Amino acid sequence: MVKYAERMNLLTGSEIRELLKLTAQPEIISFAGGLPAPELFPVEGMKAAAIKVMDEMGRTAMQYSTTEGVPALREKIAERMKAKNNIDTDAEHILITSGSQQGLDFAARVFLDKDDVVLMESPSYLGAINAFKACEPKFIEIPTDGNGMIMEELEKVLATTDRVKMIYVIPDFQNPSGRTWTMERRNAFMEIINKYEIPVIEDNPYGELRFENENMPSLKSMDTKGLVVFLGTFSKILAPGYRLGWTCASTEILEKFNFMKQSSDLQASTISQLETNAFLDMYSLDDHVELIKEVYGKRRKCMLDAMAEYFPAECTWTIPDGGLFTWVVLPKYIDAKEMALQCIAKNVAYVPGGSFFPNGGNDNTFRMNYSCMPEEKIVEGIKRIGEVIKANLK
Ligand SMILES: Cc1ncc(COP(=O)(O)O)c(C=O)c1O
Repeated sequence: MVKYAERMNLLTGSEIRELLKLTAQPEIISFAGGLPAPELFPVEGMKAAAIKVMDEMGRTAMQYSTTEGVPALREKIAERMKAKNNIDTDAEHILITSGSQQGLDFAARVFLDKDDVVLMESPSYLGAINAFKACEPKFIEIPTDGNGMIMEELEKVLATTDRVKMIYVIPDFQNPSGRTWTMERRNAFMEIINKYEIPVIEDNPYGELRFENENMPSLKSMDTKGLVVFLGTFSKILAPGYRLGWTCASTEILEKFNFMKQSSDLQASTISQLETNAFLDMYSLDDHVELIKEVYGKRRKCMLDAMAEYFPAECTWTIPDGGLFTWVVLPKYIDAKEMALQCIAKNVAYVPGGSFFPNGGNDNTFRMNYSCMPEEKIVEGIKRIGEVIKANLK
């Protein structure tokens, strides 16, 4: 019989992926995935960029390139981080990765030994939990409220816990909760981090997709000690299929990530990088992001309005200022996993919230994605979920 490494016992297939398989039928109204809307992908623009790259530098595009990434694209990313996130950086401090998901994998491998402690918001991104699990850490969840991570709780844990090696956070339009940290929390967080000097992974795939209120400064822009590792991605502002993300970190930390990149897959796809770089030369990504924001903003409003109309008063949900998700809390006695099956029977789907908590529990929660369905389907889907919730009330 084949014997596997012990860590494989910790890794189970993502529940979301299993569920997505179920929800792939066209008749299902799915709020389950976290996918960007495919109808907004700039297919024609990317096609023109691809032709230009193949005409002008086909052989370069098909060749290996450097581990760090294509210099022109790293320059553009650094410029964008300055403009959008107020981060004072340059191309030297950018490593291009295969999606930001790869940055999460590297973060775990760079910072975590078996039984080290990683802190994260409760709830947090399932893909990060799974990536970190491969390094067999212990997870401590820090409670959150409508303003983000609760800093008194973070300080308490840091003051009383050995072997905390990394803190993972998503301060802007969090996946799964849709919440954004207030300025006060950001300031308090940086003060605590500077005191304990623990590396922070700031994962920011949604920050540019703000529909309401003012942009918040990234933690990385407030970092004076080189402790914050910022993960960015083109997945939600352009298209995920190119698998292009980036890590921005201090020289010392980025060097470690670079070693990981070399041993993992040598480099991100040269073709993806050159085509994306050409697209950025030929078109305005800002205009494209505005279009995405307009469509998602309308879908968000549509979902929130429908929830207010069709969900019973016994449940609550978050009002996101941007991003792709809202988060629903049911009465404690309702199991959102069981209820998901009842919903699928009515051809509507969401993701049960339990899997976003590394230590389990919280089965009365679920995540809703609004980016991927047209408005009439959103209303119909919410109506159906509302009926199922009402049928489960005691
Ligand atoms: C919080 C968060 N981090 C990282 C990722 C991974 O994105 P990608 O690898 O496509 O950049 C996602 C994808 O949904 C996400 O929600």
